[in-house]
Amino acid sequence: MARTYRRNKGTKYRIRLPQICLEMGQITLATQTRIRIWKLAALMCLVVIVFLFYMQLTVPIPLTFKSIVPSSLPLNRSKHSKDWFLSICVKQDLRLSLENLPAVLDIWKQSQDKECNHVYAVFRGIFSVQYNPAKIVIPSSFESKVRKWLGSSEKVFQESKNQSVIFVYNEFTREQNTYNPIRGKRPLPIPEEPERLYVDRLAKDTASTCDFCQYEKFTAEEPFGRIISNYSATAANTFKLDTWHSLVLTRTHHPLNWTMVQFVDLYNTAQKWFSRAHIENTEYKFPSLIWDLLPHAGASQIHPHLHVFLDRVRYQGAMENWRTAAREYAQKNKRDFFQDMIDVHALLGLSVQYGKAIAFANLVPKKENEIVVISQEPNEDFYKLLYFVLRAFIDDMEKLCFSSGVAYPNLGSEKIEDRIPVFARLVTRGAVAEIRSDVSSLELFAATNANTDPFEVIRVIRKSVEKRSKMTN
Ligand SMILES: *[C@@H]1O[C@H](CO)[C@@H](O)[C@H](O)[C@H]1NC(C)=O
Ligand SMILES: *[C@@H]1O[C@H](CO)[C@@H](O)[C@H](O)[C@H]1NC(C)=O
Ligand SMILES: *[C@@H]1O[C@H](CO)[C@@H](O)[C@H](O)[C@H]1NC(C)=O
Ligand SMILES: *[C@@H]1O[C@H](CO)[C@@H](O)[C@H](O)[C@H]1NC(C)=O
Ligand SMILES: [Zn+2]
Repeated sequence: MARTYRRNKGTKYRIRLPQICLEMGQITLATQTRIRIWKLAALMCLVVIVFLFYMQLTVPIPLTFKSIVPSSLPLNRSKHSKDWFLSICVKQDLRLSLENLPAVLDIWKQSQDKECNHVYAVFRGIFSVQYNPAKIVIPSSFESKVRKWLGSSEKVFQESKNQSVIFVYNEFTREQNTYNPIRGKRPLPIPEEPERLYVDRLAKDTASTCDFCQYEKFTAEEPFGRIISNYSATAANTFKLDTWHSLVLTRTHHPLNWTMVQFVDLYNTAQKWFSRAHIENTEYKFPSLIWDLLPHAGASQIHPHLHVFLDRVRYQGAMENWRTAAREYAQKNKRDFFQDMIDVHALLGLSVQYGKAIAFANLVPKKENEIVVISQEPNEDFYKLLYFVLRAFIDDMEKLCFSSGVAYPNLGSEKIEDRIPVFARLVTRGAVAEIRSDVSSLELFAATNANTDPFEVIRVIRKSVEKRSKMTN
């Protein structure tokens, strides 16, 4: 039956309605209007779905990464302290340094204590320390120049004629560092322009044309889009180095001006990117990232950006070497490489613990001031400790540029023994405005000469952890 209804506005509808509806006398919706409402509801549903999907990518989902990362072996706190080591194994209270390490090893070797013998064997199983004399003859015509380089100290000048070189070699990672104590005693040249001013100028000059400041317009995306967070966002690398290779950008431009909250957010976004890429493509399961700050450290842009990778077959080169080292170590010694690295560094006083994470000054640094940060899995303590180390480099040591790499536990389903904990390696890269590169054929084809003393480096880092962890709690 057809009726004509008149609504308040006077619009006429000519529609068919069931008798029962009419009898109720309550009919307010005409069929057409109903269709419109259905459309609206469907649209709203779609909006909600899109919104939820967006939230999934942008709102912190702390469980996602963890739930797909099976744990590695639990790392334990070191059993031995430096105090124990000095009083029981060395039987004297001395200030440890890389320079006196060979002498300390000689005393340690002769200890009668069983536990000291055991840890000595663990140390010598990983590291070999070699000490070579390096004499020079300085003609009188050259004397004044050398004295000037050495800051005019007579004592240091006399020492310079009778130098010694210390090699520390890691038998499993097959890395080596050469250290000449007298090189470290040369006063540092003062740069023409104060380094902070140089960085501020660089930041100012590049801000207006920075692509990363306008990442939505001037960077590529992964096929799945971007991950955007409060203080960071991802962009696919325009010229990728692997199937999964993106950048994680801070959302502010200045290279040195980031807080702990911003820093942790940056790394959380990296983790979300790993999870997202892995979901897309589960064959890819080795997550890692690298970060160089400022051009002198190799960064192509002033704007801070992490490179994140998810690899298929193995970690990339140098990171894979540590995994291989751990595997070989386990086969040979039936012990955990990472745990033993932590323990021997800790008993020499080369480490600092922060919650579930530990930092140690590597005895075989890849470059100046190397700190290794390890935790069983990526967690807040790990990221905070990374932050304390990097802020110590920048604000306490005035080393304004750095390079770093982090290898994360594999996202696949390997046996627990084959998994690595998360570990980061962080080094400083010398004077920020210096034209000369700090990487040469020495680092590329031979060994490194990181002429910093790990025993000094850890003192600065420990202070930073004490100071900054108080500030943030
Ligand atoms: C940590 O200690 C526990 C208990 O002693 C042990 O089962 C585990 O293997 C240790 N972890 C490592 C990495 O050695
Ligand atoms: C040179 O240094 C070595 C090791 O420090 C020391 O044993 C030696 O006596 C020194 N020689 C001279 C001539 O000072
Ligand atoms: C992001 O910012 C909002 C608003 O300031 C805040 O409520 C939220 O906790 C922040 N999230 C993170 C991960 O910092
Ligand atoms: C550093 O960052 C803070 C807030 O994040 C901002 O207020 C300040 O202006 C920045 N300073 C520089 C030099 O960019
Ligand atoms: Zn920028």
